[in-house]
This record gives sequence, structure tokens and C-alpha cells, in this order.
Amino acid sequence: MNLSRYLAQRRRLIEQALKHALHQADRPPRTLARAMRYSLFAGGKRIRPILALASGEVVGAPVERVLPFACAIEMIHTYSLIHDDLPAMDNDDLRRGKPTNHIVFGEGMAILAGDGLLTEAFRVMAEGGLRNGLDRTAALRAMREVATGAGASGMVGGQVADLEAERRKPTKTLVEYIHTRKTAALIRAAVRVGALLGEARPAQFTRLDRYGMALGLAFQVADDILDVEGATEKTGKRPGRDQELQKATYPAAVGMAKAKQRARELLDEALEALKPFGTPAEPLRQIAILVVERAVRS
Ligand code: IPE
Ligand code: IPE
Ligand code: MG
Ligand code: MG
Ligand code: MG
Repeated sequence: MNLSRYLAQRRRLIEQALKHALHQADRPPRTLARAMRYSLFAGGKRIRPILALASGEVVGAPVERVLPFACAIEMIHTYSLIHDDLPAMDNDDLRRGKPTNHIVFGEGMAILAGDGLLTEAFRVMAEGGLRNGLDRTAALRAMREVATGAGASGMVGGQVADLEAERRKPTKTLVEYIHTRKTAALIRAAVRVGALLGEARPAQFTRLDRYGMALGLAFQVADDILDVEGATEKTGKRPGRDQELQKATYPAAVGMAKAKQRARELLDEALEALKPFGTPAEPLRQIAILVVERAVRS
């Protein structure tokens, strides 16, 4: 398969659906709409919604069934970035190659743009559940996955642990605790949603879930590596921020060489989980390789 063509096609599909989803909001105040659109269309890689679609593909879920949930996950991810960049959190001024939301719109509006995206995501999922002849129970299960991945025991909980770990000597155990929640939980949810909406059999679901977990953790290890070694042109972010904030990162806990080794190990785990799936899992394989190679080869 041609990965870049695949990714470009998926991105187009997702961007279109996201535009449509925002248009459906019932006349939000103009500034709020601008602030939400600014970050949502700032040029993210769209990895999470692509993973939801690609996981669905493995078990034969129709794209239109997964798409609303994929969009909701990207909206929630974007909200998490807007809030992550706030002065009270990572205090960053560059994201997706552009000034961060609060730099452009002010802190109050950035908080509200995040709140708006998070809340609208649940409307988008509810609408997805009401359309497409989707089984109501399946829709509710998918919403539960997203809420769990993004919520207090998932992404938000991880962000709390991330803040509380600042300026403390990190151990590998602590970093894995943080990364499993702040990043892996939502990525895992994306993969689980695709599997669920494709009515994966239990054994298939377990394997896709293992893939999601391993890739999710690898994703944050890769992000930590890129914070040290990735130039702004590549990441759209200012490098070196983790060290400035004394964040609990993988390289800070175990050193750069071991961090890269761990990323490779997690890639192997992710690929191993996909073994029985054959060709339909090729997009998931290629995406995992891309995520890890992009960092490890930097
Ligand atoms: C950045 O996520 C935040 C992390 C969880 C590491 P991405 O690297 O997916 O950022 P975008 O969406 O492409 O901007
Ligand atoms: C972000 O972790 C995790 C989120 C849930 C937003 P980071 O703080 O490392 O993400 P970047 O490096 O700012 O994108
Ligand atoms: Mg952060
Ligand atoms: Mg950050
Ligand atoms: Mg980072």
C-alpha cells in the first residue's frame, strides 16, 4: 500500500466531516466559532481519527459508521492540546506550526474553545448514533469508550499526573503511568471504537486493543524523543520545552538510548498483536511504523 496516499485520503475525509460537524452547531458566538476552528484546522496529523477508521477497516466497519466517532475523538484531542498549551499547564506559544490558541484569542477564550470542542464532540457522537441505522447499544458503547479514554481515569487523569510529576526525578514506572493515561488512553479508545463498531469478535477485539495500547504508549515515548531531537519544521512545536519544565519524560527517566529502545519494543508489540489480520491490517501496521520511525530516526 501507499501510506502517504492513504493518509492524505483519510485526512481529506476527516477534515470534510469535521467541517460539517462544526457547521451543525447552532450558531455559536462568532469568536468562539473562530477559536474552535482555528485549532481544529491548524494542520494536525489526524492520527487518532485515522486509527479509528483503520481499526474499523480490519473488521469490516463501514467508514460512515465510524466517522462521527473519529471526528469526536479529534475534537477532544484538539481541546486537550488547547488546554495543554495554556500558561497554567505547559505554557506553550507554538502548536501545529502556529501561535497557540490562547496567544491568538486570549486565555479565557482558549479555555472556552476547548470546552466547546469537548462538549460538541458528544453531540457529534450522539448524532452519529442516531444516523446510519447504527445499533443504539453499539453507539452508546462507543461513546463510553471515548469518555473513558478522555476522562478522569484516562487523558485528564494523565494530565493531572503529568503536572504533579513536574520537577521531580521521574522513574520509568511513573512515566509509564503518566503516558498510559495522558496519551495512550485516547489512542487506545480510537482503536477500540473502530473494532467495536465493526462488531469485532472477542479475540479480534483483544488483539486490536493490545495494538492500541502499545501504539498509544509508543506515541508518547516518540513525542518525548521529538521534544529533544525534533526540529520545529517537523513537529510544529518549540523543542526543548520538556526539559525547561522538568517534565517526567521517557528520556528523562531512562536516557535517550533506552527511550528509543523502548519505542522499538512497543512497535514490535503492536505489530505482533496484528499478526493474524493479514492485509486489511496493513494501514495499522504502517501507521505504527511511521509513528516510531519518525522519532527514533531523528
Ligand atoms: C500531540 O499529539 C500531543 C500528544 C499526545 C503527544 P499529536 O502529535 O497527534 O498532535 P497533532 O494532532 O498532530 O497536532
Ligand atoms: C500531551 O503531552 C498530552 C495531552 C493529552 C495533550 P505533551 O504536553 O507532551 O504534548 P505536546 O508535546 O505539548 O504536544
Ligand atoms: Mg503536557
Ligand atoms: Mg504540552
Ligand atoms: Mg510533548
